[in-house]
Amino acid sequence: MKLIRVENYEEMSSSAARLVEQQILDNSRSVLGLATGSTPLGLYEQLIRGVQERNISYKQVQTISLDEYCGLSAAHPNSYRYFMNEHLFQHIDIQLDNTHIPDGTASPVEDECRRYEALIDRIGPPHLQILGLGTNGHIGFNEPGTPEASVTHCVKLEESTRKSNARFFSDLNSVPTHAITMGIQSILKSEQILVLASGKKKAPAVKRFLAGGVSEDFPVSFLWKHPHVTLIVDKEAYSLAAAEKE
Ligand code: GLP
Repeated sequence: MKLIRVENYEEMSSSAARLVEQQILDNSRSVLGLATGSTPLGLYEQLIRGVQERNISYKQVQTISLDEYCGLSAAHPNSYRYFMNEHLFQHIDIQLDNTHIPDGTASPVEDECRRYEALIDRIGPPHLQILGLGTNGHIGFNEPGTPEASVTHCVKLEESTRKSNARFFSDLNSVPTHAITMGIQSILKSEQILVLASGKKKAPAVKRFLAGGVSEDFPVSFLWKHPHVTLIVDKEAYSLAAAEKE
């Protein structure tokens, strides 16, 4: 795994943007795997600037998003489809038909999961998969205990995840209890994986991840099985791992 240490959130975002843009410049038909959450917001802002200032084009790019809340439609301001449209897609020259996100309202949900995994195999897997990191080590919505062989599936969200995501909702009760997420195996299919972590809250997870060892109760640790992973951490997120080394 390649570790890139940067000073702060802004540097993490621009360093990630450089890698994403290089991928697009190398292959204008790239497939990008995208994440939601606060972590990639700065990266998405940089990518938007890349279109405006650096002539980067997403006309032929396809995107595959990691996850979506069950029960929220694309029009719901807390759905991940809404998030992606709002924070990235509507500001760049991508064709919306080329942006893929699980449909949180589809029923039965198992059929939607199968459709999505088949789509990953058909148009993907991503050349570059971007991942944030849950404080409990989750990636996408793969909570601790998710098996390595998992493909796109429906998960019951942990209370800790619902609580940490409640900041985006009016109250905890409005946070959905379930989500559709690409599985560990779906994520590991990607050619390259880019993990971003910023801030003190992520320091314990970063420390545990960097200590090595693969364990089902810490999903991000499965990335040790992948040959091309880059982790970009800022000073705060790296602080506990750094303290360990001293
Ligand atoms: C959410 C998302 C993940 C994200 C993580 C961290 O639950 N499903 O894909 O990486 O939590 O979120 P944040 O970046 O806001 O810390």
